[in-house]
Amino acid sequence: MMEERTMQARKIEDTLYWVGAMDWDRRMFDELIPLPDGTSYNAYLLQGGGKAVLFDAVDPPMAATLFARLESLKVERIDYLVAHHAEQDHSGSIPEVLERFPMAQVLCTPKCKTMLIEHVHLKEERIREVKDGEVLSLGDLTLKFIHFPWVHWPETMLTWCPERKLLFTCDLFGSHKAASGVFVQDEALVLSEAKRYYAEIMMPFASMISKSMAKLEGLDIRLILPSHGPVYQRPALILDAYRDWLNAPPKNLAVVAFVSMHGSTRLMAEALVDALGARGVRVEQYDLSKADIGKLACDLVDAATVALGSPTVLGGAHPAAASAAYLANLLRPKTKWLAVFGSYGWGGKLAEGLGAMLGAVKAELLPPVLVKGLPRRADYAAIEKLADEIAARHATLKEKPPA
Ligand code: FEO
Repeated sequence: MMEERTMQARKIEDTLYWVGAMDWDRRMFDELIPLPDGTSYNAYLLQGGGKAVLFDAVDPPMAATLFARLESLKVERIDYLVAHHAEQDHSGSIPEVLERFPMAQVLCTPKCKTMLIEHVHLKEERIREVKDGEVLSLGDLTLKFIHFPWVHWPETMLTWCPERKLLFTCDLFGSHKAASGVFVQDEALVLSEAKRYYAEIMMPFASMISKSMAKLEGLDIRLILPSHGPVYQRPALILDAYRDWLNAPPKNLAVVAFVSMHGSTRLMAEALVDALGARGVRVEQYDLSKADIGKLACDLVDAATVALGSPTVLGGAHPAAASAAYLANLLRPKTKWLAVFGSYGWGGKLAEGLGAMLGAVKAELLPPVLVKGLPRRADYAAIEKLADEIAARHATLKEKPPA
């Protein structure tokens, strides 16, 4: 006979509970983003003035966990379900929530309404649009809805509860990490997870997010409650980090990412890394045949230079290098300088091909270093010259190499 499982809601404070799900075993998101430490789908229940509000739902396979946690609180009625975002890891189980709680009304932005109808087939009559700045009274508490588009879809919003100084942010300020606790425990660890998350998910929308951040100025926030990762009891931790990631100029960091078939491009990469290091440029080296692309993306948040190395395959870039260029182009980092290097057998258009793939990165393309076969002394001299060019440019940065 199957034993019944119990899942307890976690009390955050009076009348506020975490009712989400931890996904310890998930290793990929969107079949794209590696999740080395799993993730969580946070849902929160706030009770006030006789009303119960659920903030977001969970990934559909985790719906039973959400319901078990609600049952542990003996929740018989949900009045409002605030859907901050239509992506399925938060919205996919909303239809089941609405079935179990027939009085519940979904609150979301107008764009989110359309997307919830399209993506999870919600019935229009169960959804109420909320305007930017609209306030909902729960009696002793109020909820203010702040439209905050493009984190990282166009329909997103946040919710502010001024009486309790709570900011519900959905994906914004999130991090992919499963944990036994609900709150931030190790700030350095959470920041590194949150930066990785920012790099993979938010960085392409940095300019839009940066504009909307002004809406948070002046709010005396006590708790930030995201939809992935822990709750922040010290909001400045993540707010200051986001200001830096979004707005600070790139740092004295070069990413040297390469793939090599017979070792020649590797020799060039290693020579470039060594030459840059000798010139005071901080470097992260990635062999693209085995790199963690999440970590690489994380370094793109700060890197002033990206150098991409590839052999030629059938006249063009190796697919691993092309894939890295494609990804970097999608992520739109603040990178100011790009370099291409590599070894070829008999010809090809490596630099033109990779350069064209990086068009959305508004960066200066430095002269490429291309070598026929195994590099010789003159080729290493060309690598040294490239390192000189990069170091000279990094000397103009706010965070410059040591003199
Ligand atoms: Fe966590 Fe964009 O969904």
